[in-house]
Amino acid sequence: MSRWRAGDRVVALLEGGGYAEQAVVRETQVLPVPDGVDLVDAAALPEAACTVWNNLVDVGRLRAGEWVLVHGGSGGIGTLAIQVARALGAHVVATAGGAERTARCAGLGAEVVVDHRTQDFADEVLRATDGRGVDVVLDLLGGRALNDNVRALARGGRLVVIGMQQGRRGELDLGALLARRGTVTGTLLRSRPADEKARIVADTEQHVWPLVAAGRVRPVVHARIPFDEAQSAHDLLESGEAFGKVLLVP
Ligand SMILES: NC(=O)c1ccc[n+]([C@@H]2O[C@H](COP(=O)([O-])OP(=O)(O)OC[C@H]3O[C@@H](n4cnc5c(N)ncnc54)[C@H](OP(=O)(O)O)[C@@H]3O)[C@@H](O)[C@H]2O)c1
Repeated sequence: MSRWRAGDRVVALLEGGGYAEQAVVRETQVLPVPDGVDLVDAAALPEAACTVWNNLVDVGRLRAGEWVLVHGGSGGIGTLAIQVARALGAHVVATAGGAERTARCAGLGAEVVVDHRTQDFADEVLRATDGRGVDVVLDLLGGRALNDNVRALARGGRLVVIGMQQGRRGELDLGALLARRGTVTGTLLRSRPADEKARIVADTEQHVWPLVAAGRVRPVVHARIPFDEAQSAHDLLESGEAFGKVLLVP
């Protein structure tokens, strides 16, 4: 028997793209709209929350009291990652571009925010942590940032690569990695088999949904754009001005 009934307010982790008025999805990838969250805003949550929980906690093993560096703190993933890491009791360093975006990341709970347009993030991480480095890096930059990410790691640090916005190839100083006893790992959510997606969705509902219902984590929505103006939503994302998620609505 299904957990769900017609008329339930739900969101879902789809297999891939979701540009449609109707979607088919396994029931194990469906989540209830968290208490107190608007139905449309809730669309900003499932993909980002599953990505953040899986990579910060399952893969990155982030614990209370540790330091984490969240790249792209102004983005759809980053805005949620800052809040979840803070709610877990971690210290958060975030990167973003420009004064307004860094200030908004601080407002979400980042203790230190690096403006990557004018500052070197690894230098700033080491300064903020008295030379120790961070325990986890949630990285969506990839390639050209690889060495600086390793430089920012503490002993036993975990670099979790989830994106390649600075290219798919980089040079790794293995000496620096070995000296830190560091780990570099990469994951993708989309290509996981159904049973792994089901587990990630269940973990996200168990651990992140209560934080959302308690108001400690909220979806950050930059704009709602009508479905038939999808191109302008893409233009907005490409402009680099969006802070948080851009939602397509009917
Ligand atoms: N592996 C997975 O399972 C998984 C799942 C979901 C998403 N992702 C990946 O995660 C990444 C982030 O997704 P998102 O939804 O958060 O995207 P997004 O909303 O576009 O945010 C990305 C942020 O990164 C910053 N940024 C972009 N290019 C940059 C660059 N070259 N150098 C430094 N910062 C840069 C931008 O902020 P500033 O301009 O303020 O710096 C932007 O706000 C994407 O690459 C996506 O493919 C991976």
